[in-house]
Amino acid sequence: MLVRKARLPDADSIHALIRSLSFDGTLLPRTFAEICENVRDFTVVENDRGEFAGCGALHLYGPHLAEIRSIAVTPRARKQGAGSAIVQALLAEADTHSVSCVCLFTRLPDFFRQLGFAQVDRTALPDKIYKDCANCPRIHACDEIAMARGVLPDIAVLGPAQVEERLIPLQL
Ligand SMILES: CC(C)(COP(=O)(O)OP(=O)(O)OC[C@H]1O[C@@H](n2cnc3c(N)ncnc32)[C@H](O)[C@@H]1OP(=O)(O)O)[C@@H](O)C(=O)NCCC(=O)NCCS
Repeated sequence: MLVRKARLPDADSIHALIRSLSFDGTLLPRTFAEICENVRDFTVVENDRGEFAGCGALHLYGPHLAEIRSIAVTPRARKQGAGSAIVQALLAEADTHSVSCVCLFTRLPDFFRQLGFAQVDRTALPDKIYKDCANCPRIHACDEIAMARGVLPDIAVLGPAQVEERLIPLQL
């Protein structure tokens, strides 16, 4: 098993895996264009034959917060440590950026608890709320658990202004 940073040729496999897990809401859907644009956020794992076996991404909000997203392992490669290895690599990457808190939203708290994450109140993560939740159709029916590792942020870099900016059509 090899864990490495993703490269653009991995985008197809990443997209197919995330897509296969987004129909039932297990993962947030990501378009191919979004994955290409953010491919440097992604880490992938290869099996011993050099085949793609899973992925995960680290989104940086700032030194106060990063978010682990899109963690997925192909069904055949599960239960062999690949998922944990991806999360550990993303945590190490957050460390190299001196990020003080790493968060995630999940329906699998037990998997992440053993990797050092603890459940937190989602209002402690305003950047995540402004980035995704504010525009999510499930905002009032969300069944995901907010988790974090490290010191909860006391600042936010996103806010209502950014949300409104995205919603206001350009006056040409
Ligand atoms: C969750 C997922 C990434 C785990 O990947 P994996 O490679 O099977 O995980 P690992 O082999 O590293 O498992 C490590 C530990 O987590 C446990 N674990 C694995 N999947 C789990 C799950 N669904 N729920 C709870 N614990 C789980 C394992 O039992 C193992 O514990 P052990 O070391 O005591 O045996 C994988 O099942 C997956 O891709 N699921 C679908 C996508 C998904 O739900 N992603 C998370 C969204 S936030």
